[in-house]
Amino acid sequence: MQNITIIGTGYVGLVTAVGFAELGNRVIGIEKDREKLDLLKKGLPPFYEPGLEELLKKNFDEGRIKFSDSIKDGMEESEIIFICVGTPPLEDGSADLSQISSVSKEIAENLNGWKLIVEKSTVPVMTSQWIKRTIKLYSKRDVNFEVASNPEFLREGSALNDFFHPDRIVIGVESDKGKEVLLNLYKDFDCPKLVTDINTAEIIKHASNSFLAMKISFINMISDLCEKTGADIEKVAYGIGLDKRIGLQFLKAGIGYGGSCFPKDVRAFFKIGEEHGLYFGLLKETDRINSQRIERLMEKVRLALWLPKGKVIAILGVAFKPNTDDVRDAPSLKVIEALRKEGAILKVHDPKAISNVKKIIEEDENLKYVNTPYEACDGAEALILVTEWEEYKELDLKRVKGLMKTPIIIDGRNFFDPEEIIKNGFEYYCMGRGNYLKRKY
Ligand code: UGA
Repeated sequence: MQNITIIGTGYVGLVTAVGFAELGNRVIGIEKDREKLDLLKKGLPPFYEPGLEELLKKNFDEGRIKFSDSIKDGMEESEIIFICVGTPPLEDGSADLSQISSVSKEIAENLNGWKLIVEKSTVPVMTSQWIKRTIKLYSKRDVNFEVASNPEFLREGSALNDFFHPDRIVIGVESDKGKEVLLNLYKDFDCPKLVTDINTAEIIKHASNSFLAMKISFINMISDLCEKTGADIEKVAYGIGLDKRIGLQFLKAGIGYGGSCFPKDVRAFFKIGEEHGLYFGLLKETDRINSQRIERLMEKVRLALWLPKGKVIAILGVAFKPNTDDVRDAPSLKVIEALRKEGAILKVHDPKAISNVKKIIEEDENLKYVNTPYEACDGAEALILVTEWEEYKELDLKRVKGLMKTPIIIDGRNFFDPEEIIKNGFEYYCMGRGNYLKRKY
């Protein structure tokens, strides 16, 4: 059992905090945002993540996890301090490290004995060195401490499972003591544990996300070729993915990647290369292909509807992926924007993310957020599937067809079974399956 402090309770911080508490440790989470802290102090998570509410409540009620807004409290209670604050993008694509910098100063001011300061946020390589320097500069007392990097690889929507069953644990340390503390903390995890120097660990994180994003853009590039030639991207992806050196995962073509990680990390990693005199053009292209996906979808909208202006369109899904309420950098935002620019009238549904999307795009006479997918389809001239929530698989297609003015489905994620959709009397458009893009008239 260890005492652990987690500074920052976003997706990574809160899931890590709850995960370590569930494993029997005593955890204190530090959150500066008053609204979020009020919820956490009642044992409630400030965002939706499957299973998190239940597990937080259990550990909260059993006294293994608590929350505060004071880094001082956290420093008093633990030897292991995780930094999990946000690193949002700046205008030029590089990561904004101001939260990390100010947390480092506060840690320095409250240093009260040996600590292991573990960087978990996604950061540019060398950040831990800056954390170390900042703590040394601002520390009032001559107290020993160490920094380490322990990047997190969990995905939103399956975060708890990813925390408890990771593919690997990466530990970047400078000494045997740091290594022992972290290996001991992760002793019950049954996966490869890779111990490296700190810069290597930091690069592993950015390189992993960039590689996965690159895989998605690669398959989307091939998807366009499939479309032009009548080939089927789903079969191409399977055909190449069966090669174990390539692998089947992250080869899902569609409207591209979004979320708080890939878009920002690809751009930040490009900038890091640039800062070191290197040209990471591969990542520029990854980003460019991803940005084009919305136009690829819009081409299908025009193919199906001719002019979107004045036409009612049902949008199913706004979260950047299923099983989350997160809409940060979600492709849906750009889809909505593009359709509104062309004058479409939108009825938008999502099982979890509506309250978040409302904060970004307000309702008006041409945009309504609705409570059920059927409400969205009522009077619609096309349905666009943007986020592949499992519950949309259960849609009663006969009912949907009865509600729609013209039965057209545009599937941005190749989520539906085309034959089933066509059998039910719909026109079906999708991504990278050229065969289904031929209109009958
Ligand atoms: C991603 C990484 O997968 C995690 O390993 C990492 O820890 C996390 O970023 C992070 O840095 O915090 P996440 O963004 O939560 O996780 O979700 P993913 O499942 O990776 O999906 C990202 C985006 O890619 C989604 O918009 C998804 O729809 C899209 N995607 C994913 C595709 O378009 N095609 C695919 O084949 C896979």
